[in-house]
Amino acid sequence: MLPIFMQKTFTYKNEEISYSCQGKGALVVLLHGFLENKSIWNQTTRFLSKNFMVVAIDLPGHGDTPCLGYVHSMELMADVVNELLKHLYKRKCHLIGHSMGGYVALAFAEKFADKMYSLSLVCSNARADSKEKKLDRTKAIKLVKTKKNLFVEAAIPPLFNTEQKNHKRAINKIKKMAHDTSIQGTIAALSGMRDRYEREIVLKFAPYPVLIIAGEKDAIIPVQWLKEQSELPENCVLEIMEDIGHMPFLEDRIMFETLLMRFLKGV
Ligand code: MLT
Repeated sequence: MLPIFMQKTFTYKNEEISYSCQGKGALVVLLHGFLENKSIWNQTTRFLSKNFMVVAIDLPGHGDTPCLGYVHSMELMADVVNELLKHLYKRKCHLIGHSMGGYVALAFAEKFADKMYSLSLVCSNARADSKEKKLDRTKAIKLVKTKKNLFVEAAIPPLFNTEQKNHKRAINKIKKMAHDTSIQGTIAALSGMRDRYEREIVLKFAPYPVLIIAGEKDAIIPVQWLKEQSELPENCVLEIMEDIGHMPFLEDRIMFETLLMRFLKGV
C-alpha cells in the first residue's frame, strides 16, 4: 500500500501550489521530472522522513498545481521552490531533482546558493539542450497540441531499462501521471526545458556537497555526460547505478534510497 502524506498548499502568483510534507529534521525538497508529480516520490519520502523533514512539490502545470503561464522556465519554477522555503520558514534545504526537477534545482542553486545544504541531481545534468534536441522539443510541442496521447504513449517506455526487467506496472503508473498532465502544462514544461540555460558553472563553483546519481542505461541523460560533469564540483559524489535507466527510484528503489540516505547523512 502506498503511503498517503499530508497534502498542503501555499499561494504563489494567485495560484495554489500543492506539496506533501512528512517527518522532522533538516528540510529535504524533492523535485519531480517532466510529466510526473509529487507522488512519484512517495516511497522516497517514506524512507527519508525517518531522518528528515521531506517535502515533495507539484511543479507548475503538474499534479495538483495549475499552470502559471504558457512557458514554465526553470527560473520561474525555482522561484516557486524559494516561495515554498519562505512559506515553511526554512532558511536552507537539501535539494533533490530528478531530470527536469534537476534543471529546476540548478536554477534554484544559481539564484539561492546560500539556501542549499546540498544538491542532488538524479539522472539530470547541467548542459543546455543541443540544437537537435531543441528542434525535437519544438516538434513535440506541435504534436502535443493535437495528439498528446500519442506523445505520452511513445515518451514513457524508453525511460526504463526494460532489457533487465519488465517494468509494466511502473510504466503504466507514469503514463497515468503523464495523461493527467494538461496540454498547457506539458507544452509549458517542454518550452521551459528547450529554452533553459547551461549551468555547468553552478556545479563548478558549488560551495555545498553535490551528489549525482546516473543510470548506466539512461536513454535520456547519457552516463558519460554525468561522468564529465561530476569532475566539476570540488565536492561531488558520483553514483552510477548499473543496468538502470532514467527512473532509478522505481527501477531499484532500495539501492537508490541507500545511496541517497548515505549522502544526505554525510553532509
Ligand atoms: C524528464 O524526465 O524530466 C525529461 O525527460 C527531461 C528532459 O526531457 O530533458
